[in-house]
Amino acid sequence: MREDRTINQKLNSIEKTEKPNLSPINQSILKIWGPSHLQGNINISGAKNSALPAMAATILSSGVCRLRQIPCLADINTMGKVLSALGAKIKHNGNTLDIDASILNTTEAPYELVRQLRASFFAIGPILAKWGKAHVPLPGGCAIGARPVDLHVKGLEALGAEVHIEHGMVNAYISGSKTRLQGAKIVLGYPSVGATETLMMAATLAEGKTIIENSAQEPEVEDLANLCIAMGANISGAGTKTIEISGVPKLHAVDYTIIPDRIEAGTFLIAATITNSEITISPVVPKHLSAVISKLESVGVKIQQETSDSLRILPGESLKCTDIETQPYPGFPTDMQAPFMALLSICSGTSTVTETVFENRMRHVSELNRMGADIQVKGNTATIQGVPKLSAAPVIGTDLRASAALILAALAAEGETTFQGIHHLSRGYEQIEVKLQKLGVKLQRVDSVER
Ligand code: EPZ
Repeated sequence: MREDRTINQKLNSIEKTEKPNLSPINQSILKIWGPSHLQGNINISGAKNSALPAMAATILSSGVCRLRQIPCLADINTMGKVLSALGAKIKHNGNTLDIDASILNTTEAPYELVRQLRASFFAIGPILAKWGKAHVPLPGGCAIGARPVDLHVKGLEALGAEVHIEHGMVNAYISGSKTRLQGAKIVLGYPSVGATETLMMAATLAEGKTIIENSAQEPEVEDLANLCIAMGANISGAGTKTIEISGVPKLHAVDYTIIPDRIEAGTFLIAATITNSEITISPVVPKHLSAVISKLESVGVKIQQETSDSLRILPGESLKCTDIETQPYPGFPTDMQAPFMALLSICSGTSTVTETVFENRMRHVSELNRMGADIQVKGNTATIQGVPKLSAAPVIGTDLRASAALILAALAAEGETTFQGIHHLSRGYEQIEVKLQKLGVKLQRVDSVER
């Protein structure tokens, strides 16, 4: 993670002792009886972290955009509400979204919604580039870290915007006599995914050429670039450390299918590994999972590519320890850190997990230890002594990926696990209960009133 916190550290200080939100609506629980044995095929949904910036990018377009393979998730609904609040018209048809954001009736995004979904901050780039001004609330921190936006702000200023942050609102304007942002060379202090996406979107309508150096290389960044190119943008180098954007006056309507979710795919590969099962997952882009596949194979499973977009995982003899260090893509993804730690808790020997991207992403450790894991955390490194088996327990999820880790642990644990925090899961895993039941997992959702 970046050490040189700047403007936002003061504004985004995070409550490290945040308590899990157990208000009545969030008190539904999942009961999971383990150990499970999985079999069958799993359909992987579209990538949440592609869908969210893609929805923001429709603001750049002058027509109706059709986005396909959009997962039905709470975060997608929230982003839809942000766009509607700005004046966009949205039609939801299963996993297809038709969005007409060509005309907005305000350039101010609502605090209540941006507070719930940090990714909605990325809309600041498209709103500013298209309308000359944007007022987006500072997203604030969350369970995994302070999540500052200084790189987004500095990049927009490099593109010629005037940015003032007051009363928790980021106000950005195209200053002086200019009517468009001005192409510039931007060197990111950290390969931030969101900052790369915000600035790439803003630069598509700027005057002249923009170069973003040290840009994030995540597949979702490349997917966003391909969407913008399909809208008429002039972008090269997405997916590498340097992205070049030559601004154009206008972007047109588009019909675009986003990539499959590599984090959901990795989570299901771990579900099979932790239960010693054989399953097939598709669609996937195997290249997007290279770092995760190589770590799973070092733990002892075999992963075969069945077709161009499907993988089959075969259990190994035994599960062996390994070491993980999260890094920006193509390194081991931070979003797979908690799920993989659940697996390492039953791999024989001593494993270590080092989190280098976020400063507070070890909150799943205490709950895993309550299920019989043996994990010690020192700074941003966890040391895991593998145990022969986990035991079911009542557990509470604190964020999306920590919740996924607890579900994976429950699949392997002996007995009945009761999991609180379904609202976290529904942010990032489409129909996860249905998909797990389809694979043979014994689980039941119990709403608070029935208990
Ligand atoms: C995106 O978040 C993803 N979210 C995250 O997925 C993912 O974990 C993260 O990228 C890293 O891969 C979406 O795409 C919607 P960053 P983002 O900017 O863009 C620091 C999930 O579980 N930073 O790459 O917010 C930041 O504090 C979510 O699906 C600054 O200091 O991540 C962090 O330490 C969680 N200043 C590091 O960079 C900035 O201006 C990486 O953050 C921006 C970021």
